Amino acid sequence: MEWVYIEDLPKYEDKSVEIRGWVYNKRSSGKIRFIIIRDGTGYVQGTIYSEKKDNPILKKFDKLTQESSLYIRGEVRKDQRAPGGYEISVSDIEIIQIAEDYPITPKKHGISFLMKNRHLWLRSRKQNSVLQIRTELIKAVRDFFDNRGFRLMDTPILTPSACEGTTTLFETEYFDQSAFLSQSGQLYNEATAMAFGKVYCFGPTFRAEKSKTRRHLIEFWMAEPEIAFAKLDDIKELSEDLVLYIIGRVLEEKKTELDILERNTKPLEQVKKPFPRMTYEEILQKLEQEGRKLNFGDDFGAPEETLISKIFKQPVCITHFPAKIKAFYMQPDDTRPDLVLGLDVLASEGYGEIIGGGQRIHDTKLLKEKIKEHNLPKKDYQWYVDLRKYGSVPHAGFGLGIERVLAWICNIKHIRETIPFPRLLYRIYP
Ligand code: 4AD
Ligand code: MG
Repeated sequence: MEWVYIEDLPKYEDKSVEIRGWVYNKRSSGKIRFIIIRDGTGYVQGTIYSEKKDNPILKKFDKLTQESSLYIRGEVRKDQRAPGGYEISVSDIEIIQIAEDYPITPKKHGISFLMKNRHLWLRSRKQNSVLQIRTELIKAVRDFFDNRGFRLMDTPILTPSACEGTTTLFETEYFDQSAFLSQSGQLYNEATAMAFGKVYCFGPTFRAEKSKTRRHLIEFWMAEPEIAFAKLDDIKELSEDLVLYIIGRVLEEKKTELDILERNTKPLEQVKKPFPRMTYEEILQKLEQEGRKLNFGDDFGAPEETLISKIFKQPVCITHFPAKIKAFYMQPDDTRPDLVLGLDVLASEGYGEIIGGGQRIHDTKLLKEKIKEHNLPKKDYQWYVDLRKYGSVPHAGFGLGIERVLAWICNIKHIRETIPFPRLLYRIYP
């Protein structure tokens, strides 16, 4: 009998198949036994009907516990009432292993218990759906850039220098020197952009952030495009197109999972471009009108980000930030040198920043001054300064945090559920 994955069952109507999976749940109702099997690609109900109490399948059914592994064989039947629209009329069960005392039962568990059992928690329906959407989201990001001719450039994880400030660096030994885990591929992307025109990197990034919020991971994944000759306006548009593309793909391809998560998709369907475009100072005014006064130079915190997304009900593009709250490499505004051409995109529904980037300094002298001003070790940035010496051009790019976007799309409160094994402040197990 052919081994078939649950997601492919519609192609096998009225055929006999074998499913290899685990017991999710089971119940009896009169002479019928129901068993829900999961195989990672989906869930399907098997039905066993028997008049005879000593039917060997019923004996096996009785032994099955949650998460026991098995092969079931039977005929695929179309059934409107069944979740997924198909069920299996079971003719045979072959048990591989009976799981004893599986710790995650259908009752409610505390988050600390679930996090400790993350290796098992991944099997539950909601976690499965979030991570199914994650794979689609990543595929969408890759397709978006590939379709537009961006070249994928893998940037290093072990680096000699900081990109996003020196306070959140993870230091490690590198033979007789020290190295840092990458906070962003950007600086290397600026080099590859000068070699390939338009590039993106996609990989894990690390921040030793001592902040315990629902938006921060210590290890997270970022997709970062960088384009030679692009300016701030170009990447505003690119970031909108990217966000819309991702939303469109997930809405189209991951309906079942969004349903399982009980995600009301209306707010996502309503996202359209152009997003409201505001400068930092215009946002300050808006916030003040809403009763929240910040001073010039204050960065937005979680309460402000939440408020901004309530005001606009759409993702918002914010630009022209005070230089002192942004990284050393940001291009100053021509007419207001105290402002830099940074770009942040905040998601709607209170999810906060999902994209950060901007236009980069392309003037050698200015860049050298900024490196000095930020007390960065000159020799480690020599290669970066070189990029401005040999055919320097304006250029811009940004980073999109995969987990932030996923939390928003799935409408889940805490970012820890958006990655298979989250690294959090004070938690690195399992
Ligand atoms: O705004 P950030 O720090 O920008 C950069 O790293 C730039 N060098 C990127 C570039 O221009 N190529 O980070 C970019 C995005 C944020 O908008 C957010 O989505 C995500 O990365 N991010 C985090 N996600 C989860 N946990 C954290 N601790 C994050 N820090 C940033
Ligand atoms: Mg940022």
